[in-house]
Amino acid sequence: MSRILVVHGSPRGERSTSRRLAEGFLSAWQARHSGAQVTRREVGRAVIPAVSEAFVAAAFYPEPEARPLVMQADLALSDALVGELFDHDLLLISTPMYNFNVPSGLKAWVDQIVRLGLTFDHTLDNGVAQYTPLLQGKKALIVTSRGGFGFGPGGELEALNHADPWLRTVLGFVGIDDVTVVAAEGEESAERSFAVSVAQAEQRLLDLARTF
Ligand SMILES: Cc1cc2nc3c(=O)[nH]c(=O)nc-3n(C[C@H](O)[C@H](O)[C@H](O)COP(=O)(O)O)c2cc1C
Repeated sequence: MSRILVVHGSPRGERSTSRRLAEGFLSAWQARHSGAQVTRREVGRAVIPAVSEAFVAAAFYPEPEARPLVMQADLALSDALVGELFDHDLLLISTPMYNFNVPSGLKAWVDQIVRLGLTFDHTLDNGVAQYTPLLQGKKALIVTSRGGFGFGPGGELEALNHADPWLRTVLGFVGIDDVTVVAAEGEESAERSFAVSVAQAEQRLLDLARTF
């Protein structure tokens, strides 16, 4: 593994916990992979366009090889984002939980990279839709931060977590099944418990940097 794509989802810069934790992992990982290709794709502090009518028409055009030039232009950013995914072995996503999900910039990025004929295929088998993921051999690490406590596996609020479980679902849909999640919790809780959670996440990420 020597090519890593880093997707930061927080609108916050230096104050972002998820971004800082992910960058910590990246530094430790880079120390073990000198010469690795690192690409950062900002989606929290840059505008990733939402899906538009033109995008839908172009993305689902019945004959992709004969797609008109104007439609190709509507897909230019999406094509570039999909290309970035194919060009890297490891995907590192950092994101806060926003209203039980991810911030809109990260959702917009996902909508741009889930592409018929590029990252997944759709066929009909006796009238029943069959979906085939088209990405292979990639691993993902999701680093997330939350204001509350208990959104992780087995936690009291697990059922309300539509952030990293949803990312896991959508990454699997395009073929990225090997997904690890590291979370810090409690930014809106007592300072001490948040600090403990962040320290645990930092340690876990340092450990993971040795195996990724
Ligand atoms: C708009 C907004 C919505 C949020 N929604 C939630 C939420 O649903 N659940 C939660 O636990 N924390 C929520 N938070 C708190 C953030 O998840 C928390 O502060 C997180 O640590 C921010 O990550 P960052 O520092 O990487 O930006 C929300 C914060 C904001 C600004």
